[in-house]
Amino acid sequence: MLALLGLLLFLVPAQALTAFPPKFQAGKLSQDVVVRCDTSEQHVSWTLNGDEEPMAELVPEGQKLTILGLDLPATGNYSCWAGPVLLDSTYVVLSNTREEEINVSCQAESYNGSFHCSWPGPASAIFRACLIRSDGAVGPWVPVAGGQGRFNASLADPLFCPFGEELRPLQLHLEGLSDTSYLNLSRHFFLRDIVRPEPPQELMLQQRGEQLQLAWAPPASWPLPKSYFALLYHLQYELHNGTQVEQFVEGAEEAPVPAGAGRVRISCRDPYSPPAWSPWSAWMGLGAPQ
Ligand SMILES: *[C@@H]1O[C@H](CO)[C@@H](O)[C@H](O)[C@H]1NC(C)=O
Ligand SMILES: *[C@@H]1O[C@H](CO)[C@@H](O)[C@H](O)[C@H]1NC(C)=O
Ligand SMILES: *[C@@H]1O[C@H](CO)[C@@H](O)[C@H](O)[C@H]1NC(C)=O
Ligand SMILES: *[C@@H]1O[C@H](CO)[C@@H](O)[C@H](O)[C@H]1NC(C)=O
Ligand SMILES: *[C@@H]1O[C@H](CO)[C@@H](O)[C@H](O)[C@H]1NC(C)=O
Ligand SMILES: *[C@@H]1O[C@H](CO)[C@@H](O)[C@H](O)[C@H]1NC(C)=O
Repeated sequence: MLALLGLLLFLVPAQALTAFPPKFQAGKLSQDVVVRCDTSEQHVSWTLNGDEEPMAELVPEGQKLTILGLDLPATGNYSCWAGPVLLDSTYVVLSNTREEEINVSCQAESYNGSFHCSWPGPASAIFRACLIRSDGAVGPWVPVAGGQGRFNASLADPLFCPFGEELRPLQLHLEGLSDTSYLNLSRHFFLRDIVRPEPPQELMLQQRGEQLQLAWAPPASWPLPKSYFALLYHLQYELHNGTQVEQFVEGAEEAPVPAGAGRVRISCRDPYSPPAWSPWSAWMGLGAPQ
């Protein structure tokens, strides 16, 4: 496998893929692959990456072409022709038989069925993603943004019910294609397990008599009503003498500021789901020492 990966790195791609080819076929290393030309023509000729005499072991027969013992040089764009007329093309790649250990991390900011996932991968690869929804229906393929070896996809289950108990996990299916190889992986998870709110917003200081009070609002993307979609808040104060003071607040959006506080930041999480705290808000200064 290491040798194969080495080869993958040194092989000059015939054409870098920019989108999923309309027809592609993944075969196992050293196994025969049959490519079909979708045509009614009786006699067709074949090219591989535009080459009429490729090095690969090929056996044409009618509208079929058998690739004997698929290997790296035999991967690529197989086109069938009637004279100068292009009839059909199939992109042939090696299927990646390794158990995929790609670290796909997914996050939702809310319970409305939208989430995004990201994972590392070779810069030359392209991916597409599809969601098998909570009702079992297969969603459309969605394109995946990639660059600098990281890929991102945004998905949504339009039937997701934020108020119901989530009985079946969502199933994410990913397909990746490089110039020479194909990989295929699935992830199952509950939306409730990937929820991570955005930071609380609108931090504000209020004077209540002698007491300074901090007020804030839930993240804009957090669902309503508040009575159902509660949030637990974590306030972190830094006092002027350098000490840090932690405060936890649930069921309220304000709290008294401790004496001697120099600055504060705030984060939140769903009190009932696994502890995925939101990112911190920016520090907010609370004024000079009194
Ligand atoms: C394969 O080759 C054909 C003929 O040159 C071309 O039309 C097609 O775009 C190529 N497909 C890919 C995925 O490169
Ligand atoms: C997976 O990726 C996430 C996000 O990039 C990272 O926080 C986490 O540590 C990674 N886990 C492993 C096992 O590499
Ligand atoms: C993918 O998402 C990360 C974090 O959300 C972002 O920093 C990065 O720019 C995104 N990459 C692409 C290619 O969209
Ligand atoms: C992708 O993976 C699934 C499940 O592992 C498998 O059934 C399917 O045939 C694979 N698709 C391709 C094109 O290899
Ligand atoms: C869910 O909420 C997010 C954040 O407010 C928003 O970007 C997204 O479009 C919403 N998705 C759906 C399916 O309503
Ligand atoms: C900083 O001030 C707080 C509150 O006045 C006090 O409880 C704490 O002991 C002080 N810490 C240091 C290191 O002086």
